[in-house]
Amino acid sequence: MSHEDFPTDNQAVVTCGLPYANGDLHVGHLRTYVGGDVYARSLETLGQQTAFVSGSDMHGTPVAVNAEQEGVSPEEFALGYHEEYEATFPKFNVDFDNYGHTHDETNTELTQALVRELDERGYVYEKEIMVAYDPEDDQYLPDRYVEGTCPYCGEHARGDECDEGCQRHLEPGEIEDPVSTISGNPAEYHERTHKFFEVSEFADYLTEFLDRLEGTSNAQNQPREWIEQGLQDWCITRNMDWGIDYPSDEDAESGEKAGADEEDLVLYVWVDAPVEYIASTKQYSERVGAETFDWEQAWNAGEDAEPAGPDAGGEIVHVIGRDIIQHHTIFWPAMLRGSGHVEPRAVMASGFVTLGGKGFSTSRNRAVWADEYIDEGFHPDLLRYYLATNGSFQRDVDFSWDKFRERTNNELVGTVGNFLYRSLLFAYRNYDGAPADVDGASDEVESRINGAIDDFTAAVNDYSIRDVGDAVTHLAAFGNEYIQRNEPWQLVDDDPEEARQVIYDCVQLAKAIAVLFEPVAPEKCERIWAQLGESGSVHNTTVADALEAPDGGLAEPTELFEKIPEERVEELNEKLDARVAEATEGEADEETEESEEAEAADEESEPTMTDFEPLADERISFDDFEDLDIRVGRIESAEGIEGADKLVRLEVDIGAETRQIVAGLKQLHDIDDLEGQKVVVLANLEKAELFGVESNGMVLAAGDQADLLTTHGDAEPGTKVQ
Ligand code: 2FM
Ligand code: ZN
Repeated sequence: MSHEDFPTDNQAVVTCGLPYANGDLHVGHLRTYVGGDVYARSLETLGQQTAFVSGSDMHGTPVAVNAEQEGVSPEEFALGYHEEYEATFPKFNVDFDNYGHTHDETNTELTQALVRELDERGYVYEKEIMVAYDPEDDQYLPDRYVEGTCPYCGEHARGDECDEGCQRHLEPGEIEDPVSTISGNPAEYHERTHKFFEVSEFADYLTEFLDRLEGTSNAQNQPREWIEQGLQDWCITRNMDWGIDYPSDEDAESGEKAGADEEDLVLYVWVDAPVEYIASTKQYSERVGAETFDWEQAWNAGEDAEPAGPDAGGEIVHVIGRDIIQHHTIFWPAMLRGSGHVEPRAVMASGFVTLGGKGFSTSRNRAVWADEYIDEGFHPDLLRYYLATNGSFQRDVDFSWDKFRERTNNELVGTVGNFLYRSLLFAYRNYDGAPADVDGASDEVESRINGAIDDFTAAVNDYSIRDVGDAVTHLAAFGNEYIQRNEPWQLVDDDPEEARQVIYDCVQLAKAIAVLFEPVAPEKCERIWAQLGESGSVHNTTVADALEAPDGGLAEPTELFEKIPEERVEELNEKLDARVAEATEGEADEETEESEEAEAADEESEPTMTDFEPLADERISFDDFEDLDIRVGRIESAEGIEGADKLVRLEVDIGAETRQIVAGLKQLHDIDDLEGQKVVVLANLEKAELFGVESNGMVLAAGDQADLLTTHGDAEPGTKVQ
């Protein structure tokens, strides 16, 4: 069953993954929040009624452990960061309709009600399990309070996930050789009674749900594999004080607290965290009134609504980082389904952000901090543009000051800003606004704007925020070409009527750019709106306004974007290097050893001349070469082939058709990153069957590491390689 295209008549809720309230935000964190904000604004520009909500994740051991290390209560610690986040997001024009936190009353009540509902519907049971315990400190050690060895891959891991190895979520009692992260004491395992949510009951439902789920393909493909491997029930309680109490029957009547065995037993943080999506929507409704936004209509599937099918309630879109796909496509939909709520329509899972090709490291101060970016005097919309349009959402993005400068100078200053400034200045100086006596935009310009609206609409329905941005930069590039081709500076004397038409067209294009670029660069577009002399706010416009006649009078235009000088980037790079050096002082020896080892390893893998296979002696004729039908292709989807260690099944668009091709890329590439990649395909290779799957062509790659061949220009799928 597929969903109706946006805009629909339903209410939409766009959510962003809740940040743990346990540390400062850096540029890498902002990708999800900027992505969510761009997407929510884009939906509104399409005319979709939308609530954009999130909140701080206050509970769990990620917060409790850090608070304990700093010697403050978890509540005080988390509230401090919550306030910091509340102040930081608006600095990047991330404009939540509501930003709450998981420790407030609304979330506590809704979480307990939801868990009670799951319990009443028979999805919760009790079980004895082994939990880690520090006998010396007389303390239970849930999740991040304990570290040890991953039972699956043998790597060092923390209690709740194998963060350094296989990345699996670890259930309590699973980690081997447990040690307390607080005291360093070896831990013992004690048997305790805990509550379990029967996720395994939802396997069939989740399989169907994933067929309906929209968003990025990584959010659909990974969970399918997990379901095939068999779903485990999920322990939803923890022995600790900090969190939301497990609701007991007594709770409802007397408000007293009780747990499975009368101990301190709170809900696992991953139970109450996503409920904040609902709580935050509720707080928004309560503020603006249900007639403006009705949270119950958006989230509740209604009386008999188990199942909550795709048509019930609102359009729920979760924007998250790819490390929490499992929680949003397995646990959370099962919780929603089991408690009579609406299922998510889409999950958009972003790739990570690296800094100059390496991971951010908050402990080593290897980060560009959110506040630092603002303090350096850069406009938030520049970073928004960079993060939103630098590659597809599900791929990793690298941030460097050099690339930031390059994209700002070339695309924002050179294309968008240049078009707006030159055309509005011309209009202002010669006509004092959009020229009068013109009968609307020319057919050519109207059709270009309509094309941009179509691209924008398709981008929203494809959940591609990069394409939202591209729809506008392409329109601005057309504007530059249009003004250059028509030379209005000549026409003013030679053909004044035509000059008026050309400049009117340019003002119309500027207006369309303001409307369609608002989701990516809201503050800058508000400024264009004011320069255009338009009334109201650009934030309240929809795509239809892009073609409405310009209002008339212009304010004197100023340059919208400024070039970033090269010296500025040098200065920023030096600052970052110096800071990292200072933060890692003392670790120098260790670092040197590490990097020497890494260099040695690199050297080993670096091919020497003798590593290359000798060149073929035998020559082939040009005709033989011409027999090879080599085409540009684009990978549409990629999935591992069950039972095969190396093989993936690809669907590759080669222009005239889409081919199924089997390739040995599984261990050498991240399967999720393959989708969307432009590749080179030998199209007339004879068909073969590999692991029972037909392969109809070959994707070309270089060397043992399967470095995929691609093209560097605009060659479309189907283009012949010659
Ligand atoms: O992984 C994290 O950072 C969690 N705080 C995300 C929670 S998102 C949700 F479901 F609420
Ligand atoms: Zn592991």
